[in-house]
Amino acid sequence: RAARFTLDPAFQVGPVRRRTFGSFVEHLGRCVYTGIHDPAHPTADENGFRGDVIDLTRELGVSTVRYPGGNFVSGYRWEDGVGPVDERPSRLDLAWHSMEPNTIGTDEFMTWAAKAGVEPMMAVNLGTRGVEEALDLLEYCNVPAGSAMAERRRANGAEDPYRVAMWCLGNEMDGPWQIGHKTAAEYGRLAAETARAMRLMDPNLELVVCGSSSSDMPTFGEWERVVLTETYEHVDYISAHAYYWEEEGDLDSFLASSVDMDGFIEDVVATADQVRAAGRHSKRINISFDEWNVWYQKRAESKPPTGDDWPVAPVLLEDRYTVADAVVVGSLLISLLRHTDRVHAASIAQLVNVIAPIMTEPGGRIWKQTIFHPFAQAANLAKGSVLRPVIASPTYETARFGEVALIDGVATYDDETGEIVVFAVNRSQTDTLTLEVDVRNGAVEVVEATSYAHNDPRWTATADDDSTVRPRPNDTAAVDAGTVSMQLPPVSWNVIRLG
Ligand code: AHR
Repeated sequence: RAARFTLDPAFQVGPVRRRTFGSFVEHLGRCVYTGIHDPAHPTADENGFRGDVIDLTRELGVSTVRYPGGNFVSGYRWEDGVGPVDERPSRLDLAWHSMEPNTIGTDEFMTWAAKAGVEPMMAVNLGTRGVEEALDLLEYCNVPAGSAMAERRRANGAEDPYRVAMWCLGNEMDGPWQIGHKTAAEYGRLAAETARAMRLMDPNLELVVCGSSSSDMPTFGEWERVVLTETYEHVDYISAHAYYWEEEGDLDSFLASSVDMDGFIEDVVATADQVRAAGRHSKRINISFDEWNVWYQKRAESKPPTGDDWPVAPVLLEDRYTVADAVVVGSLLISLLRHTDRVHAASIAQLVNVIAPIMTEPGGRIWKQTIFHPFAQAANLAKGSVLRPVIASPTYETARFGEVALIDGVATYDDETGEIVVFAVNRSQTDTLTLEVDVRNGAVEVVEATSYAHNDPRWTATADDDSTVRPRPNDTAAVDAGTVSMQLPPVSWNVIRLG
């Protein structure tokens, strides 16, 4: 059986945005402590940052990194994390029932971000705090000199302002689990006033208002409508968050998870545009999909400690990913890319140890999870414009999403080099399927073709073996009369570069 993509360099959805390949560092589990920061590690620099984590962050192709949370931010006092380290207080982190030593704070994170070559994307606390603390943090980060907070930063050793452009107005404020959870109307007012005041300090900020924590939230849709009605003129983006996992062995539905992401994005866009019409606004609100990934939320590793146990950097959310998980991550990247006209930023959650592509042992080895590979290939190879292929694919029946295409994909076109890159997944658990790509008016030489797959889709990478399964050359790729064809193995992520 074969699927066919018809591609034309003229079928452009919009630019490939570097910010689509963002990630997320939260004070959660071992993401910060023994993740990016581990002074005892042999590769640690003078600030205690692991050099091998920075190297893999670069190899992964990460653009932005959102910080410091996540649920953590909704109880965070940012002032605890600046100034002399030995004077910083330890605090209870109520979101993850952990002890926060505040060894790493805003200045350290900015130092790390500069070393890793990533753009910081900050979140302010709108759970326990409000307009004033958000303004103080913004002043600390972005004002060059002369004011109290700017001088505090300079006294702490950072002469130049960080000039952070993107700011999240809180985190998942629709979620009853969130510290300081609010109704849409309460949050909308607070977000609007916070945004308005932040813009008085710096009119060029790019502000993200909280959308829904998933498309399953009972308030989904109405939350976006109410929040955007309050905030429309003061913000640029609305967030979306989504995590997927295989439920009760239903791999067929799990492999089709991007059907949910496609629908989620399209529903948020429709709601934002309805608010635009009703309010007679001229600009459009776009999406920051600033948490997405596979996350097995029901497993024990996702449950925080309880009682009097408040550990520093406990093992939390350390999911071990399979090949099938990586194929789902690839298909979610396809969904984000094909909506590049309205998804202007995204962050895989998270970067290190916590539902992460990169894993570390304290003081020891570093290794790549399966999900590292599709992300790195997409982040490094997608360039120029996103093309919308016209897709004709055989289908299969899923319990969760009904009839779904077996092969899904997207392509990018770099008009400087003429290179077209096709990203495609095969969701079939049993069949190798042929993909035919008809490149109208475009490149027809195969520069490179790879597939990521294994006989056992539940193969899982470990510290001892993270490379048995990796993207490997697919030598079935061939060109005949302007049509490229390739055999896509069952449960696979595939990349074809055409020059
Ligand atoms: O990424 C893990 C958690 O998932 C974040 O802290 C929260 O925002 C979301 O629910």
